[in-house]
Amino acid sequence: MSLPTDLIAFVITLLRGAQLAAQALLLGGIAFVLAVSDPLAAPLGEAGPRLCAAARRWTRRAALGVAGAALAAGSINVLDVVSTMDLSVMDALGAEFVQWSAVTVASALLVAFAGNRKIILAAGGATVLMASAMTSHAAARLDQRGIFLVADLLHQCGAAIWIGGIPFLLLGLRLVHQRDGRFILGRRCSQLYALAVGALAIGALVLAVGYTRSLTALTGTAYGAMMGGKLVLLATLLSFGLLNALSIRRLGRGGDAGLGRLRRLAEAEIGIGLTVMFVAASLASHPLAVDQVSDPTAVASLHEIAQRMAPAWPSLSSPPLGEISVPADASMTVNPTAADHAWSGFNHHWSALFVLLIGLLALAERTGRAAWARHWPALLIGLAVLLLARSDPETWPLGPIPFFDRLRDPEVLQHRLITLVVTLFGCFEWAVRCGRLNRTRAPLIFPLLCAVGGGLLLTHGHSLADVKQSFLIELSHIPMGLLGIYAGWSRWLELRGEGRVARVAGWIWPICFVLIGLLLLNYRES
Ligand code: HEM
Repeated sequence: MSLPTDLIAFVITLLRGAQLAAQALLLGGIAFVLAVSDPLAAPLGEAGPRLCAAARRWTRRAALGVAGAALAAGSINVLDVVSTMDLSVMDALGAEFVQWSAVTVASALLVAFAGNRKIILAAGGATVLMASAMTSHAAARLDQRGIFLVADLLHQCGAAIWIGGIPFLLLGLRLVHQRDGRFILGRRCSQLYALAVGALAIGALVLAVGYTRSLTALTGTAYGAMMGGKLVLLATLLSFGLLNALSIRRLGRGGDAGLGRLRRLAEAEIGIGLTVMFVAASLASHPLAVDQVSDPTAVASLHEIAQRMAPAWPSLSSPPLGEISVPADASMTVNPTAADHAWSGFNHHWSALFVLLIGLLALAERTGRAAWARHWPALLIGLAVLLLARSDPETWPLGPIPFFDRLRDPEVLQHRLITLVVTLFGCFEWAVRCGRLNRTRAPLIFPLLCAVGGGLLLTHGHSLADVKQSFLIELSHIPMGLLGIYAGWSRWLELRGEGRVARVAGWIWPICFVLIGLLLLNYRES
């Protein structure tokens, strides 16, 4: 039996994202042990040995996570190759990707079970990093392979030490109680992360220029657009990092008032940083922009982009169900007709009205003068019903293809996941707003689901045969995904932060919803 290729590709991207996230924690932990907790053990006093032990413990756990994710990704790849290329399992095990996955698993396990010695930690971490670069686009380039491999290594290493190091800084701040100790720890972490950001940026610059090479490739392909999305998230992370560096400097001058803010911003930094890992995995699964320009029909011109983005009236009426195309096989996609586009336009524009109204009601509630507006989460449940009924008309509840058969198409699977996220979202938040769910952590469900939804939009693929049309659709999803991520983490900061941070954040997320509504109102597929 052959496995549905698009679905397998989506699962592999998610597993690669999970592996990169665990790898960040592993490499961030190793760098923390080698450059922070071990060298500072004496100056940190009695907290020093406790921090060393805890940092090693979490590094070992991260190593197990890397081994698990690499094993799962390798196995799915073997299954995929066996089923699609009609190879034997032994032949599939010989594929280069599978062998690098095996190297990752072995070196991660070495760190997990024998990694108390620094040399083993360093060698294990370096091998995991090398194996990761050897399975990226860099290793497959025929020209300037060496330069791209070095850039990829620098980029991945910097990203991991920075993003994966932040949880270890938080661990340190929890275990070290003296102000002087916290300052020494914070300063050392700041220096390490600044170096890591430098490596990340140099690597990103070389990869971005080398993999695009022209403005047309940068602006006209999904690869270029996703790099733009990463750049925006990087700018946000850098501004958080800068604020945290200022808090640490203030700590050195005797004031620890900024420490609460540092903790909360660091939490948001970890969340956004891990989302970038999934975006990176999705980026690595796209064809390179520089290769795509060889086929001019696959690249959108600035004129085509401007045309698609120009404001137009939303369509609020739908064609009849009978005019919608139904694929002959449950796993197949069809080339959409004008009626299919009109059907989708109706869905998007009505969804837009729901989201816009949610944002406006949340803003009204935020003013403190409209308590009734707190029932806005009920609109999310209405939105989920709309999505369930109409997002994929060829399957249950409207179409002939059985519900589970159609889940083989990753686009349909992603729609169903988003519907589930929106439903959970609405139920939890409505209960929270009405005071029926008072557990301290329950309100955090809303921002987390919001951020996950935004991340899914950023990694969301469209299985259209027409690459240019897929890109033009993705172009509208990227800003919405970014706004979803900002909505989630600003609500998180409102809930967990204090003072000005919480106040400002409390205005940001409803505004994000309004902006998502407006963008969606202008969405179209042709
Ligand atoms: C916080 C910011 C960032 C993080 C955490 C990050 C992380 C990563 C990671 C982990 C990879 C490896 C992906 C893989 O091999 O599966 C990667 C690849 C890459 N990143 Fe970033 N990145 C960041 C920012 C950027 C920026 C700003 C750019 C450029 C504008 C960029 C461009 C690239 C490119 C071109 C690749 C190569 C992907 C491929 O092999 O096709 N990254 N990034």
